[in-house]
Amino acid sequence: MVACNLDRVPASLAALDARQALVLTIDGPTASGKGTIAQRVAQSLGFHYLDSGALYRVAALAATRAGVSLDDAAALADIGASLPVRFEPDGRVLLAGDDVSEAIRTEPAGQAASRVAVHPPLREALLALQRGFQHAPGLVADGRDMGTVVFPQAALKVFLTATPESRADRRYKQLIEKGISANLMALLQDLQQRDARDQSRAVAPLKPAQGAYLLDSTGLDVDQTVEQVLNRWAARR
Ligand code: CDP
Repeated sequence: MVACNLDRVPASLAALDARQALVLTIDGPTASGKGTIAQRVAQSLGFHYLDSGALYRVAALAATRAGVSLDDAAALADIGASLPVRFEPDGRVLLAGDDVSEAIRTEPAGQAASRVAVHPPLREALLALQRGFQHAPGLVADGRDMGTVVFPQAALKVFLTATPESRADRRYKQLIEKGISANLMALLQDLQQRDARDQSRAVAPLKPAQGAYLLDSTGLDVDQTVEQVLNRWAARR
């Protein structure tokens, strides 16, 4: 490890490092439980929480509402650069003041998010917004590229996986619980398609960050998975 004398580091860099030292990232494929685990970990640590997937979902919805094609990279970047999104403390997500919490959670909304997410100009446009979530005392951020691109200096990077079958099963139960009808085979196909698109895109493909803690949650419940992450966080030094 390289010793670092903060007195000799320019103020802005030192500030950046100090903030990034408080970031814990959780990346992984669709339906790996990132959102649930990240929220629970953030709650336990008293940290802020960034659901970066929600930003891509909101961007796709904003584009659809504005009549912009999900393949128009330049227009999507414009939308991303001034996305009027707000995350309320009660968990609601607002787009231009309109409550879109439910609209962004449907499977088509997830597919649309995955389509707009392949465009580098949109990803670039959303960078500042995502980094703006770093506030004391710390941040738990979940997504696909939190550890690789957005917060590369994070103090702990977790890559959370589970087999496609167990992820499809979890997503199925989640939807049924919400009273939304679902088909297990269709969900499995959908998430395999999404995995393929997320892993093969040229920019910020889904892959573990360097030094990431690989956590396979197949066979673990939420409490056990949260405990593993918190143990790693406590032991990170
Ligand atoms: O809940 P699920 O994992 O299915 O989706 P999500 O985390 O809400 O993300 C929706 C889509 O946004 C993903 O399929 C990714 O294509 C994209 N995404 C991304 O590219 N980068 C992120 N940091 C987060 C999401």
